[in-house]
Parts: sequence; C-alpha cells; structure tokens
Amino acid sequence: MGMLDGRVAICTGSGRGVGKEVAKMFAANGAKVVVNDPGVGGGGEGGGTDPAQETVNEIKAAGGEAVANFGSVAKYEDCLDMVTQARDEFGGLHIMFNPAGILRDRMFHKMSPDDWQAVMDVHLNGHFNFFRSAINLLRDQEYGRLIMVGSTSGLLGNIGQANYGAAKMGIAGLSRIVAMENASKNITSNVICPSADTRMTRAVPTPKDPAAAAIREERLRRSPADAIAPLCTFLASEGAGYVNGQIFHQRGAELSLYSHPRPVKMVHKQYGWTPEAIAEVAMPSLKNNFFEMGDSRAVHPGTPLE
Ligand SMILES: NC(=O)c1ccc[n+]([C@@H]2O[C@H](COP(=O)([O-])OP(=O)(O)OC[C@H]3O[C@@H](n4cnc5c(N)ncnc54)[C@H](O)[C@@H]3O)[C@@H](O)[C@H]2O)c1
Repeated sequence: MGMLDGRVAICTGSGRGVGKEVAKMFAANGAKVVVNDPGVGGGGEGGGTDPAQETVNEIKAAGGEAVANFGSVAKYEDCLDMVTQARDEFGGLHIMFNPAGILRDRMFHKMSPDDWQAVMDVHLNGHFNFFRSAINLLRDQEYGRLIMVGSTSGLLGNIGQANYGAAKMGIAGLSRIVAMENASKNITSNVICPSADTRMTRAVPTPKDPAAAAIREERLRRSPADAIAPLCTFLASEGAGYVNGQIFHQRGAELSLYSHPRPVKMVHKQYGWTPEAIAEVAMPSLKNNFFEMGDSRAVHPGTPLE
C-alpha cells in the first residue's frame, strides 16, 4: 500500500531536478502522475520533449503510471490542458505540485523589464495559472493537496535575485490565502522551499576561494534532489490534512518549519506621531528589534562538515 494509492497528481517542471524526484516518489507511492515539463533552458530559453518523457519512462520502468505534458505554467490555457489530461487519462485530480522554475539573476540596478517579467511569468503567475486552473474542481470534490514552491531567496533575501525573491515571497502569500479560503473544503496548501543539488543551483557561480568552493561542493553532495521528495509525498497524502498554510524548508536531512511574520514590537503615542517623535521616541525603541539582514547561509548554516 502506497501513501498515495488511487490519487492523481500533476507535477510541473518535473523533467529535471526536484520535480523529477518528487514525481517518481509520488508514482512509487501509488499516484498516477501527469509529468509536465517544456524542457526549457535554465533561463526559460528553447524547449524540448525529452526531459518530461524521460521522467515518464523511468516511472513506467519502475512499474508506475505516468503521462507526459509539455505545456508551460506561464500560460493559463496550458494549465487547463494539464487538468483535462489528468481527468481524461486518469479519471480525476487530487494533488498539484508546482516546482517549474527558471532564473534570470541580475543586480536590481542592471535588471531589465524582460528579466523581471520572465521570472514573474513562470514563478508567481505560473502559480496563479496552475492552481487557479483546478481550484473549482478540487472545491467541488471537497479534496485537494496543493504544494507550492518557494525559496529562502524570498523569505531571507539573496543578492542578485530581486525578481526571483519577489516572486517566491508572493507565492508564500498566495499559499497562505489559498489555505485559508479552502480549508473548509478539505484542501490544503503548503509551501516547500528546497535547497538541493540541481541544474538551477549549479548555475550559481562557484566561489573563487578554493576552500569556500570545496565547502559548497560538499554541501551540494549532501543535498541531493531526492531528499525533497519524502516531505512532498507526505504533504500530498490524505493523512496530512492537518498541515495547512505552512512553509517548510528542506535541505538534505534538515527539515525546518518557518515562522509567519508577526509584529515583534508596537509603540503607541496618544494623538499620533510627528516625524520628530518617530525619530526621538519610536525608532530608538524599535531598533533593538530590527531585522538583521543576512543571507540563507546565516540562517541555515547547516550541520558542520567534519
Ligand atoms: N535547487 C534548489 O536549491 C532550489 C532552491 C530554492 C528554490 N528552488 C525551487 O525549486 C523548484 C525546482 O527547481 P530545481 O532546482 O529542480 O530546478 P531545475 O532547473 O532542475 O528544474 C526546473 C524545471 O522547470 C522546468 N520549467 C521551466 N519553465 C517552465 C514552465 N514555464 N513550465 C513548466 N516547467 C518549466 C524546466 O524545464 C526544468 O526542467 C523551482 O521552483 C526553484 O525555484 C530550488
């Protein structure tokens, strides 16, 4: 008995990386899977059918059920087609996982409108397109497991990724509200932020310092893409119904639950604030609680490498 027996899933961007490993574990746990991937390059260029087809072939060779789809999550009509394909081929839809992704890293002052738009189209608009295309079907049947894909780049910040971080933070907000709106219909929505050794991470330049480069290599070796699959498989299962609106980070064997933003301190002044009172009273009181800017290495230093 698999955890997902009798369920139908769509996994986008699953010709490579995290999506591929998750699609394979879904299928190994009994789900029938629509494997979507337009086979584009790391920045969204080109395309091809091989990546999605290879994942389907591997699932079938292992005794599972899967069909390929080559559409783009950046197009709403393509997402509607994925849903139709899941219903036509496998008779329904229960699980949606959306790790489709590209990068167009640039410093903000060098970022073109096209770099911004391309990343928004695939990540943030792609999440709208994909989940919106099926939400009424899931609401009508009163069952669904939605897994959105975020990043520490959005939650914590990462220099050179203003477009990507903004999209990923937007996805965290989207998931939270979709979770609130659909909880009464037995639909959950959670965010998984992976850190894994994939084409996407390999596209980030290696540090020039050989010692730093060796540490990065070792961390990647300990963070294979298949380490993301067990958490996604659990979140996709019926038994995960009590997990809703949450944000998780997974890197290798480290699994973290993230907090949601809350006010950390409040100051109040009778009859309201003046700019001078803000300077003299409010900020001196608040500044000990200022968020310290730090990248994901500070927050996720990882298990020390021996
Ligand atoms: N690998 C990491 O460490 C890491 C860190 C944070 C977040 N993520 C996120 O995890 C997800 C998976 O990333 P990955 O590392 O496996 O990358 P990857 O490049 O290995 O795989 C991404 C796949 O998405 C596909 N894709 C691109 N545009 C698409 C579109 N419009 N429609 C459908 N598919 C499309 C690509 O063809 C590719 O096969 C992404 O959302 C990424 O932002 C990854």
